Amino acid sequence: PPLDNVLNMHDFEVVAKAVIPEKAWAYYSSASDDEITIRENRTAFQRVWFRPRILRDVSTVDWSTTILGQKSSLPLYISATALGKLGHPEGELCLTRAAANHGVIQMIATLASCSFDDIVDAQANDQTFFLQLYVNRDREITKKYVQHAEARGVKGLFITVDAPQLGRREKDMRMKQVDDSAGAEVQKGQDVKKDQGVARAISSFIDPSLSWKDIPWFRSITKMPIILKGIATAEDAVLAYEAGVQGIVLSNHGGRQLDTARSGLEVLVEVTAALKARGYWPDPKFEIFVDGGVRRASDVLKALALGAKAVGVGRAFLYAFCAYGQEGVERAIQIFRDEFEMNMRLLGARTIDDLVPEMVDASALNQH
Ligand code: FNR
Repeated sequence: PPLDNVLNMHDFEVVAKAVIPEKAWAYYSSASDDEITIRENRTAFQRVWFRPRILRDVSTVDWSTTILGQKSSLPLYISATALGKLGHPEGELCLTRAAANHGVIQMIATLASCSFDDIVDAQANDQTFFLQLYVNRDREITKKYVQHAEARGVKGLFITVDAPQLGRREKDMRMKQVDDSAGAEVQKGQDVKKDQGVARAISSFIDPSLSWKDIPWFRSITKMPIILKGIATAEDAVLAYEAGVQGIVLSNHGGRQLDTARSGLEVLVEVTAALKARGYWPDPKFEIFVDGGVRRASDVLKALALGAKAVGVGRAFLYAFCAYGQEGVERAIQIFRDEFEMNMRLLGARTIDDLVPEMVDASALNQH
């Protein structure tokens, strides 16, 4: 269907499913075990209701913000999704080019199909990149990778902490045959087991021994802000703050890791409460992000009202470029922008700062 017919993120998913190879669909859409958490990521947003305010002169509304001190035209960033070329020949570069044209920040995946340098070489309009890091058992490899990224101007290091082992994504595992056509060029694992699905086959280099003790080492090798991606409890949010990192992403990896883990949105409420109780937050030097299931600007506004600085978007942009390449991502960004304008007007929020907890009723959020 022509791109003009695409009205929302759900439409991109329908088109992507129809046009990409079966194996790509299995890898992208799958989640772990019984896929309860991936469903919950969507339904959690539906348990939070708005409390809109009226008569506030919303003739102009502004949804731009900063993320880790970097300008962002939208209060969201493109989260890392691996192996972009399974679904589109140009892979992650579709995201890069669209992001450059619209002032959106892209998080580059360790396991991107396009090489890190190819992505950064495509940089335009002074666009900002973050890096998602899977930590290699060989720390020298990780150190080189991180320092190279910093030298090339990356503005934030998102260390994935929810994947000491990859979850069982059975849809993906049933595909059996793994080839290297979309091959992540970096850090391929040693003993690749070809019957484990795409995800597991490429991830055996990831170090399951990673622990809180490693954080000072990361601090010693880079000046980039360090963000832990995949925090799922208030306890770990407190430890992260005390470890001196610059932020956390409340995330369950798009439902792909521990099944029946809670949604990032639900975790957000207990995290802000615990940090506040200790006098740690609000703190402009510690930003809280949420990802999982974001398909509408209204989802983003709920997370922001509850204390998130911005949200990560994975599959929505992934499906947009699989379906329509760079243009699809541009359209997705435009749709988000239109939705921000309308929803902020209807909510009575002129700027991001107007989004306060009183703008939502989250009392049903932990009633599953
Ligand atoms: C991911 N995600 C992910 N996260 C990460 O830290 N490293 C990675 O390599 C990947 N790869 C990846 C591949 C695919 C196909 C998906 C769908 C997701 C997780 C991603 O960054 C983010 O946490 C979720 O995608 C957010 O959920 P939504 O937006 O996809 O619902």
